[in-house]
Amino acid sequence: MTATTHRDEQARAILRANDRGGYSVPNGRVYPFQWNWDSAFVALGFATFDRDRAWREIETLFDAQWDDGFLPHIVFWQDDAGYFPGPDRWQAGGRVRTSGITQPPVAASVVRALWDGGDADDRTHLAALFPKLLAWHRWFWRHRDFEGRGVVVAMHPWETGRDNSPEWDVPGSAIDTANVAPYVRRDTGHLDAAMRPTQIEYDRYVALLDFGRDTGWDHARIAAENPFRVADVGLSMIFLRANRDLLALAHVLEDDAAAAEIGGHLARAERGVGWLWDAAMQSWCSRDTITGRSSGLVTSASFLSCWAGVGDGARNAAMLVHLDRIGKRVRYLMPSLDPDDLGFQMLRYWRGPVWAVVNYMIGRGLDEAGHPQEAKRVRDDTAALIAHSGFYEAFDPTTGAPSGGDTFSWTAAIWLAWARDANP
Ligand code: DGY
Repeated sequence: MTATTHRDEQARAILRANDRGGYSVPNGRVYPFQWNWDSAFVALGFATFDRDRAWREIETLFDAQWDDGFLPHIVFWQDDAGYFPGPDRWQAGGRVRTSGITQPPVAASVVRALWDGGDADDRTHLAALFPKLLAWHRWFWRHRDFEGRGVVVAMHPWETGRDNSPEWDVPGSAIDTANVAPYVRRDTGHLDAAMRPTQIEYDRYVALLDFGRDTGWDHARIAAENPFRVADVGLSMIFLRANRDLLALAHVLEDDAAAAEIGGHLARAERGVGWLWDAAMQSWCSRDTITGRSSGLVTSASFLSCWAGVGDGARNAAMLVHLDRIGKRVRYLMPSLDPDDLGFQMLRYWRGPVWAVVNYMIGRGLDEAGHPQEAKRVRDDTAALIAHSGFYEAFDPTTGAPSGGDTFSWTAAIWLAWARDANP
């Protein structure tokens, strides 16, 4: 058995072990529920050996969709006291208990990947999911681009998926944490606290949760009054790409009305995303909508512009200069924060570690944009990290050491769907 087939088996075993019957947990101890974008990526992994199970992962996620199209970031299908904040704190959901915020909308891109090369059976799955995907995107247009700028505004760091990125430090300092009711963190009971967000960051996460809950999860009111409203470069690029993929699916289904609707929003996003170009940094950066200030930070999300299919020649060239510089500073691309930034921390979650799912989007985007050499480096590095440390949540970009939880579903999925075919 080759090393690759051995790792294939390990990856499949992780997906089977984390399968709770129709949905997967990211990791049984640290994250014992269904997470939105984790499940989407996990479907890509299942698709390599069990297509029905892949569709089921997405379908189960959409079983938790609210009537207004909102798709929560966590679905609490069963109880588990090992995670905070649980359903009692959120007080959200209908048919099933959920969180009240969302997560990066990668599902349409994944569904397009599942469909490509599909047969009549896949078309049935696609046709049933399409209206649900469209409803979720409409929810995004209504509540996360409420100013019509063509970018996606995060109401919570957890919505970006990059929980403790330093992009949220300055906007987050405006959040009042004085009245946060006492709580007990569970994450630091499972993992080294040095790999997790700090206490003040957690207080801010909980303060925003409490704020949303106290509105009764009124998303229009949250959009207007939330103390944290940051146009996230990651969400904006991912949503732009997801709309391209949803448009392609509308064409497959010959739904002209949906195609026209999606196309209109796509055109607005292609115009609006330029607001996230930071000329001083020569990079795509998140921007606080309350103060108008750019984060001025180059993060792994900055490199999602190729995945989104945006950027002119000069901007793309500037991003490749960043990639080349960072690639010389670390052994493994793509660190979640620029290693030349003073806040860079090799093992602390989204302040340095490499994440396989982000590499997948960056690597595929670079390939599609005609940068095969850079794409190869990102894919080779992803495979090398997994070979070095196993299927961890994230990895130290300087040494390849593991960070966070082990036997991680989406790392296993990205191995099966993409990284295993690296050719160093
Ligand atoms: C956590 O609890 O760390 C999650 O990332 C929130 O989604």
